[in-house]
Amino acid sequence: MIQLPGLIDPHVHVREPGQTHKEDWDTATQSALAGGVTAILAMPNTKPPIFDDATLELALSAARNKARCDYAQFVGAGPDNAEALSALANQSAGLKMYLDSTFGELRLDDMSLWTPHFINFPKHIPIVLHSESRTMAAGILFAAIYDRPIHIAHISLKEEVLLIKAAKERGIKVTCEVAPHHLFLDKDLTGLTPGRLEVRPRLASQADVNALWENLDVIDCFATDHAPHTVAEKDSASPPPGFPGLETMLPLLLNAVNEKRLTLNILIEKMHSNPCRIFNIPEQQETYVEVDENAAWEIRAADLHSRCGWTPFEGWKVKGRVRRVVLRGQIAFEDGKILAQPGYGRNIRA
Ligand code: NCD
Ligand code: ZN
Repeated sequence: MIQLPGLIDPHVHVREPGQTHKEDWDTATQSALAGGVTAILAMPNTKPPIFDDATLELALSAARNKARCDYAQFVGAGPDNAEALSALANQSAGLKMYLDSTFGELRLDDMSLWTPHFINFPKHIPIVLHSESRTMAAGILFAAIYDRPIHIAHISLKEEVLLIKAAKERGIKVTCEVAPHHLFLDKDLTGLTPGRLEVRPRLASQADVNALWENLDVIDCFATDHAPHTVAEKDSASPPPGFPGLETMLPLLLNAVNEKRLTLNILIEKMHSNPCRIFNIPEQQETYVEVDENAAWEIRAADLHSRCGWTPFEGWKVKGRVRRVVLRGQIAFEDGKILAQPGYGRNIRA
């Protein structure tokens, strides 16, 4: 048995408000606890998006009633809310800016719309960018020009990790995360239908995957980008992009530790220490995760807590399992059972 600190997932799509048939604050946080995650940072591309005072309250009131683990909620950059959001900064996980197209309505096409957010949003809370490839290069230039921290979501390409490495070497305040599916899956994966394979950023080449592993020291955090869509939606004529991941991230990474592709210290750094530092997350008192590093098991969607009903890792055999999660002195999860009640979760920004 190994004891880990409380793990933080800085990139989760909870889907509430608005799309609770995919997931809600209850099921998302059940998935988190079962995956050894004690705090989640929720993305703002809900329905409606979280982009002002009223919509932030909508998300936070649902979370207050239903969340079983700790949390904070991102606000989303729109064309004319830069000043309003800077006033909400301390109540938020951070500011999310969608610079490339993906699921949901939040998108800032025009570069002139980026500027007010870079100028206004307080520097002690990061701006998280969904920015792929050349858009990422533009985002990093903005960080340099306005001299403020940015965090790049879900990197997937060799050119991206190398650019971030170069930017860090020059003192630009950029950090980044990688999602497990970009470490363990590539675009030539077989066995998943095209609809199930849809995800943003898309799965990359084996050379890209190799480059991410070779440059793990450049990558600050592991983050799921847990993006649940139902099986029916994924198998429909217009499948939305996104994979669930909260419950499979830690087992997959423990399995990688078992295979000596990773050390436990690196895992703790990227799932606890770095996210706490980057996102200003206070230490969760009396909080830890016990894992059985030798338990072998098979991932099956039917055993997971997400409402979406599927996983891209169906049938994968992994070594490493979450046994118990203690959150602020209470057993929140033990041997497959969720014990924390809805509403036990706390807003880490409150
Ligand atoms: C995300 C979603 O479904 O909300 N989808 C995805 O493929 N990652 C949106 C996002 O994070 O880009
Ligand atoms: Zn996302």
